[in-house]
Amino acid sequence: MAHLAINGGPRVREKAFPRWPVHGEAERKAILEVLESGQWGGVEQRVVPQFEEQFAALHQCAHGVTCTNGTAALEIAIRALGISFGDEVILPPYTFIASATAILLNQAIPVFVDVDPETYTLDPSKIEEAITPKTKAIMAVHIGGMPCEMDAILHIANKHNLAVIEDSAQAHGAEWAGQRVGSIGTVGCFSFQSSKNMTSGEGGIIVTNDQEVYDRCWSIHNVGRIPGGRWYEHPNLGGNYRMTEWQAAILLAQMGRLHDQMKVRDANARYLSEKLSQIPGVSAQKRPEKVTSHAYHIFISRYNAEAFGGVDRALFLKALSAEGIPCSGGYVPLYREAVFSRVHTSECPFTCKHVERVVDYSKVSCPVAEHASTSEAVWFSQPMLTGDRSDMDSIVEAVAKVHAHRDELKQAAESA
Ligand SMILES: Cc1ncc(COP(=O)(O)O)c(C=O)c1O
Repeated sequence: MAHLAINGGPRVREKAFPRWPVHGEAERKAILEVLESGQWGGVEQRVVPQFEEQFAALHQCAHGVTCTNGTAALEIAIRALGISFGDEVILPPYTFIASATAILLNQAIPVFVDVDPETYTLDPSKIEEAITPKTKAIMAVHIGGMPCEMDAILHIANKHNLAVIEDSAQAHGAEWAGQRVGSIGTVGCFSFQSSKNMTSGEGGIIVTNDQEVYDRCWSIHNVGRIPGGRWYEHPNLGGNYRMTEWQAAILLAQMGRLHDQMKVRDANARYLSEKLSQIPGVSAQKRPEKVTSHAYHIFISRYNAEAFGGVDRALFLKALSAEGIPCSGGYVPLYREAVFSRVHTSECPFTCKHVERVVDYSKVSCPVAEHASTSEAVWFSQPMLTGDRSDMDSIVEAVAKVHAHRDELKQAAESA
């Protein structure tokens, strides 16, 4: 008789995990207020500036510029830093596509540097060898909501006079050594897309303590206007990336929930890490001591096929899903995405005769990111962490069950 659900046995869990996003009276009231105010967007906004101020302050920044989404936030920030034709930006390949395309869309060149095998964040020991005279910035992506090794990254950036862009799209409220992400580097970019820990369906914000960077971001996001300028006055080049009052109203309400939700995610993630560490072959992403707050947008764990009798990760994920535990294998290293096999031959900046460096992305190799992508990473999404202990126990029970019946899994796969 089969034990595992994938082979027709009973499932560990029938119940769905908590839904996302959550809302209540606060969001309802905030939206109605915007509706009745008649001020739904534009420049003279009421709620957007309130949200910008509060979110920036929460992230220990003097300034915030909201925008349409996290991708736009990165594009605007890169442009505001003056990064352009043929400049190079160092980033990890283990991230969402927007981290890299925001660089390309500014006609700059993404230079991929591998991640640390235990944290999956940018490996500082590999950054310096990738720096050239064209390097202008390091993009530190706080993957899964866990801050990068910011001391080492800042040290290198200062030494080589580079800007630091914190891609904090997944890291609302996260902290490195007591300092909130977004305020550690030159500029921080967040996303409020629907899966994020704070969401308005879509949306983004740039935060900074640098007045000049703020002024430039503000102008770029507002069709080149300047604060206090006339409606038809456009001294700079910019697009329309403005956020609406609806989004800001929902985000203010969501921000009121952030602290409590973070506490729940943190407690559940620590519990889950501890319990998983007792099962051979699955361990949580390492959390360095200096990570004083982890946003846990993704609970990333590492799978070791050997401890599961050679069952590969793809089959493990299928078996776990069949037990009623949603999970995935996460990112493909970005340079393996089809867009990168095309850009160097067909698009600016690579086709520009003034650009000296042409990167053939098919030759890029970041072994740690590749191993994570093909064989090791196992992701659980943040809404699962907003549940209670029994939800965590069911994840642990399912992993332990698959481990206990790994021979059954292997045999079924071999005879299929
Ligand atoms: C690391 C990272 N960077 C950037 C983005 C882009 O944000 P958005 O989806 O709001 O454009 C995301 C969102 O998924 C992300 O996870």
